[in-house]
Amino acid sequence: MSNHPSLLDLSDRLDWLTSGNMRPYILARKSNRIQNPGEKFSLHWFPHEPFFMDALVINDVYFSDALMNMEARAFAEADMAMPRWVFYDCAIMPGFVSGFAMRTEAVPQSIAKILGPENMKGEWTPISMFIVIPTMREGEWVAHNLSSINSLVGPNERYYGLGFLSKAFGLAYANIEVCCGITQWQSPAMRLHSYYGFFEILTAYTPAHQYSRTLTYRLNVNPEQWKYFFTKQESAEFYDKFEPAGILLDTNDDRQLIDLHMKVQAGEGPFFLDANEIRSKQLDDNLTIYRRKTEG
Ligand SMILES: CC(C)(COP(=O)(O)OP(=O)(O)OC[C@H]1O[C@@H](n2cnc3c(N)ncnc32)[C@H](O)[C@@H]1OP(=O)(O)O)[C@@H](O)C(=O)NCCC(=O)NCCS
Repeated sequence: MSNHPSLLDLSDRLDWLTSGNMRPYILARKSNRIQNPGEKFSLHWFPHEPFFMDALVINDVYFSDALMNMEARAFAEADMAMPRWVFYDCAIMPGFVSGFAMRTEAVPQSIAKILGPENMKGEWTPISMFIVIPTMREGEWVAHNLSSINSLVGPNERYYGLGFLSKAFGLAYANIEVCCGITQWQSPAMRLHSYYGFFEILTAYTPAHQYSRTLTYRLNVNPEQWKYFFTKQESAEFYDKFEPAGILLDTNDDRQLIDLHMKVQAGEGPFFLDANEIRSKQLDDNLTIYRRKTEG
């Protein structure tokens, strides 16, 4: 039996998930298929079984084309669309791609117009993508890409939670215990990424990345926390375990990001962020830095 509440009880904006026109997909080469999918967390959140695509099979390549097109549009504003060779070399070969697809004949006109008929060739058209890649550390993966059609359509045409649930599906399906990731401090995606487990800052300032104001995080995947994304309640467990570290971080200020990074580098952490605080503030507001409470 699963302890996790049903998704539909968490929000009445999730009925799209039950539609027969919406299904999760897995895009993975045969040898990267997951053994015993979903075994670790017994989530039972997703009513429909995924279907499989293989980027190495020529007849399936249209699906990767459609994904590349959706992803390029979603990342255009941030100027971080993924080169196709990165998709192949860094996602398809080592990793695992999943997301949601919509039955092509049911795709609304507004979305069809954005995607273009050349990207709606098969029975199913992908509308979100989560890419995750294993690292050299046992059980640790890197979330490499998250994108959803919601970023391209008007508020009334969105499938609420599509981006969040795409990553949730991938983490649960692939039994991922530790997930790192990379995002920019003021990205809307911070509001999603911080809910998958207690969110530790690995780098606060990242000059090795194209954008120095990049945050690298790591978390122990904890589906007990996922419901709060929908209920927007605070997590009692977070406040039980963590306390403010006396830093209110201005994420616009390189000096402060560097100072925090130096503390991480010097082993003064680990430092954490509160998902509920991120969600309830503006994207460029100051953020409280937390540390673990000391025992006793
Ligand atoms: C970031 C992204 C994946 C989120 O997926 P999504 O399907 O739009 O989001 P969901 O429906 O799952 O979640 C909605 C929540 O996300 C947050 N959110 C999404 N887009 C937002 C935006 N433009 N501004 C502020 N918050 C936003 C909100 O908190 C919202 O919930 P709320 O209104 O109840 O607070 C999607 O917008 C996207 O593809 N963006 C472009 C690519 C990108 O930046 N990817 C992340 C790289 S790290």
